[in-house]
Amino acid sequence: MSIQPHKSRTIISIVLLCLIPFFTANAAKVKIGILLPYTGTYAKLGTHIRDALMLRIEQNKNTLGGREVEYISVDSEMNVPKSTSRINKLVKKDKVDFLVGPVHSGIGINMARLVKKSGTITIVPNAGANQITGTHCAPNIFRTSFTSWQLAYPMGGVMRKAGHKRVVMMYWNYTFGRQTKAAFAESFSASNEEVIDIPTPFPKAEFQSYFTKIATLHPDAVFAFYSGGGAVQFVKDYAASGLKDAIPLYSTFLTEGTAKAQGSAADGIVSILHYSRDLDNEANQRLKRTFKAKTGEDVDIFAVQGYDTGSLLVQAMDAVAGDTFHKKALIQAMESVVIDSPRGPFTFSKAHNPIQTIYLRQTTKGENKIIGVAAKNVEDPATGCQM
Ligand code: PHB
Repeated sequence: MSIQPHKSRTIISIVLLCLIPFFTANAAKVKIGILLPYTGTYAKLGTHIRDALMLRIEQNKNTLGGREVEYISVDSEMNVPKSTSRINKLVKKDKVDFLVGPVHSGIGINMARLVKKSGTITIVPNAGANQITGTHCAPNIFRTSFTSWQLAYPMGGVMRKAGHKRVVMMYWNYTFGRQTKAAFAESFSASNEEVIDIPTPFPKAEFQSYFTKIATLHPDAVFAFYSGGGAVQFVKDYAASGLKDAIPLYSTFLTEGTAKAQGSAADGIVSILHYSRDLDNEANQRLKRTFKAKTGEDVDIFAVQGYDTGSLLVQAMDAVAGDTFHKKALIQAMESVVIDSPRGPFTFSKAHNPIQTIYLRQTTKGENKIIGVAAKNVEDPATGCQM
């Protein structure tokens, strides 16, 4: 069969026209929109995530899949109502190729809702709300951090094993704090264990009246969720109130990135987390060295989550040679990445959340030292996720 010349010209033109968006989209810079807190109680968390993300991409010559990278970074101010317009601007006006954020779970749920509709490939480098990789899960949503459940559930076993029966749970009263309490209560309450609920308003850091109440309750232990600036205050005030020597303190994030500022007030606090600076692996040694050289700061889990977000982008974009146009292939590449993380290597669950080990740690002289493993290779149940 022969094709007439004018027909073959038309076919060639159509093919070329179809290729235009491919070449222009993929030759342009890769746009990364970042929504993180750079002010307020979580300022250091957001800054560490951003700096380590950029460090990882710098180590790849500031490119992803051979394309240069451009950042559009916005302070979330931990403001949930304002996050809608901020996310919409990054997605619709700036048309970012990737969206990275947030720290705060309330914003995280909002972001998941919005990008589920827009299809923007999104990587959550902190916010733990279960819904993000649960009821709101989507092919284009990945998380390099943890779920509320993943960290709080193992704490039930840890505290029961320590012989505690009556525990005060104190936390900032918003999604992440409430989900932490719920998962902890579920795993702790095996028979006659009791959880006494003390929620406090976010992001306030005035704890004295609650400590006075705890002194009268005489619990066996306190499990607390506070983070960043508020956590520094909590630990100092807990020691100053005289409770430190009477009632042992347990946590997840209380001493993470804050132990040096808390000083001797943090000594003895037991925590569980998916990382410790103590971990002896090559990726951790490398990040500790390069992050310190770039920022003058010590690595914490927030820097690790930012760094791993960078690794996910570097590895997946390499696999598709920088092609962000064919999203399905890019998402498949992201799903099959093994991240050589400073927390230890991890892969993603079907719902796109890390499957990871939760370490048991104790704070001594400004360091969170590993004293055991709370739970190995923990996979979040991803309740309600349908993809
Ligand atoms: C959250 O809001 O999900 C959150 C914030 C700070 C943390 C951990 C979780 O340290």
